[in-house]
Amino acid sequence: MSDGRTLLDELAKREVVICGGAGGVGKTTSSAALGLALAHRYGKKVLVLTVDPAKRLASALGLASLGSQPTCIDRLVAPHLGEPLRGSLYAAMLNVKDAWDQAVHRYADSPQTVRRLIANPYYQSMIETFVGSQEYAALETLFQLHASGEFDCIVVDTPPSKNALDIIEAPRHYSEFAGARLISLLTSPARVGWRAFSFAAAPVSKMASRLLGSSSLEELIDFVEGFQSMNAGIQNRARSLYALLQSPRCTFVVVTTLEDVQFGEAEMFTYRLRELGMHLRGIIVNKSLPEFLATDGMEKVVLNSRSPEKVHNGLPGAVQESCTLAEVETVSEMVQLLHDRAVLERKLRGTVSHLGRAAIVTVPLLPRDLSNIEGVVEIARRISPQTALQEG
Ligand SMILES: Nc1ncnc2c1ncn2[C@@H]1O[C@H](COP(=O)(O)OP(=O)(O)OP(=O)(O)O)[C@@H](O)[C@H]1O
Ligand SMILES: [Mg+2]
Repeated sequence: MSDGRTLLDELAKREVVICGGAGGVGKTTSSAALGLALAHRYGKKVLVLTVDPAKRLASALGLASLGSQPTCIDRLVAPHLGEPLRGSLYAAMLNVKDAWDQAVHRYADSPQTVRRLIANPYYQSMIETFVGSQEYAALETLFQLHASGEFDCIVVDTPPSKNALDIIEAPRHYSEFAGARLISLLTSPARVGWRAFSFAAAPVSKMASRLLGSSSLEELIDFVEGFQSMNAGIQNRARSLYALLQSPRCTFVVVTTLEDVQFGEAEMFTYRLRELGMHLRGIIVNKSLPEFLATDGMEKVVLNSRSPEKVHNGLPGAVQESCTLAEVETVSEMVQLLHDRAVLERKLRGTVSHLGRAAIVTVPLLPRDLSNIEGVVEIARRISPQTALQEG
């Protein structure tokens, strides 16, 4: 399986498509492009839910801002397709605070607890510091939107996490955070020792030491009690979330570049998906260099460019006058860099299929700004060969 048609056909069978991968590999761009391709090719009503606080999806779609309410963007996209958009495309941006507030309303034991918890400074700090807070909020929002049945498919653009795994580990992190550890940590840190806790609980100690000076112990106890009252509800929800993520209705797409660190994260991500019984149906190899850059012929160009004087001397007179030897040296270094990266890509390309039994699509590194609708349409075309998008 290795083309865009196979990838889209696979994804079109699902209700939830989650795009994960290392920072900066093109998750937001790919999510928007997949959403567009699924809407246009299959006539589906698709929502792209972004978790990116940098508002990249909004700017990519030509919107000044994007709220947490799904906004129809058909009229924005259609002029760039060159034909009427089949299906319908919506976009929404996660509001982490709103998502947590809604979770508090849903799971806290009384309206009084809701009021006190939402006003509590520890609660605010927890939202900002707890590992996976944003990812958990995203999954909560996804769950609600999916349950509403309003969309045929929801494509989730995952946040620029430090760790690609945060999105799938979020319910587990939350369970650890809100479980017995929170109580014991906050009530007897001296006895147990801060260091004894896992990294999932670490933000609590940071948060407590940051806030203890300014807040009363009463607020801290209120926070812990309020949070604990949500525990049973959240544990149930975490189970339902995992059930949705593991069901055939949901699939993951890993976006990666062929660079060591990014590819390493993709490997970890797909390994963990398998462990958790979640499905990987698509791999997008993004920002790929032309393969000829790694060939022997290119090796000769690189060898030649290692002697910039020769290159400079060989330039036609007018060109030689208009550029300095130092500039030629810089260009030589760039050629060397491109070749080295292409060689690494060739090596890693051979291992992409080890990530899982999924449809693989390669998208080239495009030499232009893609952070606008034209960019999204362009990537959608690259992802969907032989579809109507191709002709647009
Ligand atoms: N195939 C491509 N060719 C050239 N530039 C690309 C390509 N794909 C994405 N980009 C550019 O790379 C940058 C990062 O892309 P994007 O924001 O989609 O990545 P991301 O994985 O969502 O990043 P983050 O982890 O920060 O959320 C953007 O400027 C985007 O326009
Ligand atoms: Mg992003």
